[in-house]
Amino acid sequence: MSGFIGRVSESAVKERLLSGLKLLQFKDDDSTGVLFCNKDGKHLYRVVGQVSDLIPLIPEDVDGYLGIGHTRWSTYTRQVLENVYPLSSETGYVTLVVNGLIDNIQMIKRRLIKRGYSFRSNSAVEVVANLIEDNARENEEPIRALHRAMQFLEGDYALLAVFKGNCRQLFFAKHGVPIIIGQGRGAMLICTDYSAIADQANEYYYPKDGELGYIDTEKLVLFNSRLRETKPHFTEVSVSEKTLELGKYPHYMLKEIEEAPGVIRRLINHYFDGTKYRFDDRLIKRIIDADMIVFIAAGTSYNAALVGQRYLRNFNKKVDVFIASEWIFYPYQSGEDTLYILISQSGETADISKCLRTIRAYGADVLAITNVEVSTLYQSADYSLLLHAGTEISVASTKAYIAQITLLSLLYARLVNKITTIAALERVIEAIYNIISRRDDIKAIADKIYKSKDVFFLGRGFDYDVAVEAQLKLKETTYIHAEAYPGGEMLHGPIALVEENTPVVFFISDSLTVAATREVIEEMRNRKANTIVCSLAPFNDSSDSFIISHPIKGYHSPITFAVFAQYLAYFTAVNLGRDVDRPRNLAKAVRDRNV
Ligand code: F6R
Repeated sequence: MSGFIGRVSESAVKERLLSGLKLLQFKDDDSTGVLFCNKDGKHLYRVVGQVSDLIPLIPEDVDGYLGIGHTRWSTYTRQVLENVYPLSSETGYVTLVVNGLIDNIQMIKRRLIKRGYSFRSNSAVEVVANLIEDNARENEEPIRALHRAMQFLEGDYALLAVFKGNCRQLFFAKHGVPIIIGQGRGAMLICTDYSAIADQANEYYYPKDGELGYIDTEKLVLFNSRLRETKPHFTEVSVSEKTLELGKYPHYMLKEIEEAPGVIRRLINHYFDGTKYRFDDRLIKRIIDADMIVFIAAGTSYNAALVGQRYLRNFNKKVDVFIASEWIFYPYQSGEDTLYILISQSGETADISKCLRTIRAYGADVLAITNVEVSTLYQSADYSLLLHAGTEISVASTKAYIAQITLLSLLYARLVNKITTIAALERVIEAIYNIISRRDDIKAIADKIYKSKDVFFLGRGFDYDVAVEAQLKLKETTYIHAEAYPGGEMLHGPIALVEENTPVVFFISDSLTVAATREVIEEMRNRKANTIVCSLAPFNDSSDSFIISHPIKGYHSPITFAVFAQYLAYFTAVNLGRDVDRPRNLAKAVRDRNV
């Protein structure tokens, strides 16, 4: 994975640059570099390691009014210092960080070698730096060299550039890889990920493909792809993002699980005005008119789409749901008028962006459901609904899942004009507060299961959907093998894996399924499994049970049970000493590989 941040400000940048860089960094990132600019020139520090390894290398008295930082996981080779960004061109004319994939880098490098350039690294970034240097003309603004170089680059990228002798302006170029420009008090920032600067900026501009320009302490100077200066329109972010501190919590995951009641309340307030729903009438009409609805998403967002699918089927719609990375290769077009609903917490997942492009090529409409207003998905869709969950820092998604299914429930309620959903959601909020107050009971269950090698989650209907999310949460945070099955399906083969003490967690919200589920529990007991029941009513059974005795509607059980599942994953991961907020091999937004 990889990300960059740049800051130009009236005061010293080091502290805030490094705190942003830490937020960008993922557990497996293996190289980090920063460049500070001050009146004495450029100060470059790089390390094969993480921000914590880099900090001791930066002398205390070195700081700057302009800084850039980069963090990266090198997917191709073992990382070596020569290849760590930022990297400079041959004479130091420009220093760069780049994210993305440039397709014709070898061809450009061969051309530069013929023109006399030599290279100190194997990195594509050095090639781009030399390409910019090669395009520089004496007494010309650096933006022209950058623009000329862009004409040679094929592929998707975003870059930050610091030019020699110019410590007041930080240059950027964007093509295909999203970046965000933020305006704060006495500072301007550029970053690959909104969440890393959410607490440093109040207004945002989201550059389009082909745009380039620079920031100084107070403004953004923007050019379009033909190098004509254009006026950027900054947007204020609607959710307050000043809550990125951990406060009393040991982990963001725990903090974010416990933000669930607030997230639901915020969504109610946003999409219901006290007497009626506040969805764009055009969107409602579009859903009503569509012959077919297709949900596309990945990971947890896909699991939320499973719930959304049930809601819209109840609205008598033809609905399908696809995993984004599958749909890209096997896009199914029914020929009917289709509305695509793309769900993505980050709005930047590469698979989703690819689907978006294909849907665009079809000329079909897209409804985006995302947590990030300044994201490719939000900005490019025909209709967008914001999750208002606030920045989710923990890599494992918790409050965003709650927000996704709550929002889908509100949308469904609007479609069928059901005001009672609001009262039902109020009861969900109460139930979640109750779960929070009993979190130690869930910890006690985690204490019993954390040494297991397999865990199974079973449920029927909506309870199956939450089982799927529960297994993903447990798997990604604890590295324990976990699977979910529709309640009865477990008996058709997977039961072979159940051994003495294997935890099997049952979600039960629907009285219709109780008798059938009891039989499955019996089967599991015969294999001496450790059965655990999470239900909406006393189950009267000798399993370890967690009962939520609030009058929750069955169609809201995923919201409620999800909190139990998230706690179970969290406490199990803590017991195992896992890096809870940054589980291995997973990034907050799963992007393509980088240069
Ligand atoms: C799970 C998780 C991932 C993401 C998936 C999609 O906790 O975080 O499975 O849900 O990578 O990400 P978004 O929703 O940002 O598209």
